[in-house]
Amino acid sequence: MDDAPPSLPPLFRPLTIRGVTLRNRIAVSPMSQYAAVDAAPTDWHLVHLGKFAMGGAGLVFCEETSVSESSRKTYDDPAIATDAQVRAWRRITDFLRSQGAVTGIQLGHAGRKVATRAPWEGFATLDASDAARGRAPWQGIAPSPVPVKPGGPVPREMDHDDIRKVIALHVEAAKRSLDAGFDVVEIHGAHGYIVQQFLSPITNLRTDGYGGDLPGRMRFALELVEATRAAWPADQPLFFRASCVDGRGGGWSLDDTVVLAGELKARGVDVVDCSSGGIDGPLTLSIVPRVPGYHVPFAERIRREAGIPTMAVGLITEAAQANAYLAEERCDLIALARELMWNPNWPAHAAQALGLDGLDWLPKPYAWWLRRREEVRKLYPTGLEQPVA
Ligand SMILES: Cc1cc2nc3c(=O)[nH]c(=O)nc-3n(C[C@H](O)[C@H](O)[C@H](O)COP(=O)(O)O)c2cc1C
Repeated sequence: MDDAPPSLPPLFRPLTIRGVTLRNRIAVSPMSQYAAVDAAPTDWHLVHLGKFAMGGAGLVFCEETSVSESSRKTYDDPAIATDAQVRAWRRITDFLRSQGAVTGIQLGHAGRKVATRAPWEGFATLDASDAARGRAPWQGIAPSPVPVKPGGPVPREMDHDDIRKVIALHVEAAKRSLDAGFDVVEIHGAHGYIVQQFLSPITNLRTDGYGGDLPGRMRFALELVEATRAAWPADQPLFFRASCVDGRGGGWSLDDTVVLAGELKARGVDVVDCSSGGIDGPLTLSIVPRVPGYHVPFAERIRREAGIPTMAVGLITEAAQANAYLAEERCDLIALARELMWNPNWPAHAAQALGLDGLDWLPKPYAWWLRRREEVRKLYPTGLEQPVA
C-alpha cells in the first residue's frame, strides 16, 4: 500500500512500479498520429503529447513506434532505429518529464500489416499510384504466409533467422528507448501485429516449435519479452499490451490471455495493458461490445487469476467511472485515448470532480491565473448574474 492519505481517491493515488513512481493512475493510451517525418517524431508529437503531460496525466505513452523502418504500418509512422530518431524522441521525453509525467514508449512491429495508407484512407494497401509518388509498397514478414485479407499481399514466412532478428530489433529498440529518455517500455502484443500474429492460430499455421499448441504459439512472444526485459533496466517497468480476445472470435480467448499473462509475469512484465481485436477482419470489428469500460472485465479477470497488475482502456470518460474501477480493484491503472483528444486537461477536471483541487494538476503558469479567476467566478456561479455597477 502507498503512504498517501486514505481519503485520497484511488485515481489520484501515486503508484510505484519497480523504481518509477506515477503521480496518479491516469495513463495516456498510445495514439498513432501518422505525422512522423523520416520515421522521426515532429513538432506535432511534441505538442500532442505535451498537452497531456501539462493536463496532469501520470504516464504518457507515445504512439506505437516501430523497431525498424521496414516494420512500420505506414510511411508516416515513427521508428526508434537511428540516432536521429532517438534525438527527436529525447526532445519530447525531456518536455514530458519537465511537466511531471512518466514517459512510455510502445514498441511495435507490424509483421504482415505493413505498407498501408492512413486509417482515414481505410488502411488501404499501398499500390502503384502510391509508388508513383515515392511511396512504394514493400513486403511484410509473418509467422505464416497468410494475407490480411483475401487477395491482399502475401507476407514472407519467417524462418528462425528472421525470428532471431526481430527479437534483436526489439532489444536494440529498448536500448535506444533508454537513450531517448523513456521510463517505461510497452511491447505491442495486440491489434494483429507481429506478436499477436504468432499468438493467434488464425495467422500462425507453423508446424515448427513456434506454432501449433498454445505453448508453441506463445514462444515468440515470451522469447521477445525475455530478451527485452534483460536489456531494459531492472528498476524500470515493462508493460505488455494484449488483445485479450481477437477480432472475429474463436482464435484467441480470454482463457489464453490469462495463461499468457502468467507467463509474462514470470518473465518480468509488470503490467498487462488490456485491449482486444485486430487479428482478423476490419480493425474496428470487435466481438467486444463498445460499452463504457469495455475491457475492464478482462483487466479484472487477468489481474485476479494471473496475479499481475493490469491497465484498463476503452470508453472510460468519467472521473467517477475511472475511480470506481480502481476502488473496486478491477484494475491498477486507467488508460484513456479519445477522451484526452477531446479534453487534454481531463486529469485536472477529474481531480476537481472527485473533490480535489483540480488546479493542483495544472502547470503553475496556468493554475496561478485560474485560481484568481475562480475567486471571482464563485461570486457569479451561473455567469448570468447582473452585477450592480
Ligand atoms: C487516434 C488513435 C490512435 C491509436 N493508436 C494506437 C497505437 O498506436 N497503439 C495502440 O496500441 N493503440 C492505439 N489506439 C487505441 C487506443 O490506445 C485505445 O486503446 C482505444 O482508443 C480505446 O480507448 P479510448 O476509448 O479511451 O479511446 C489508437 C486509438 C486512437 C483513437
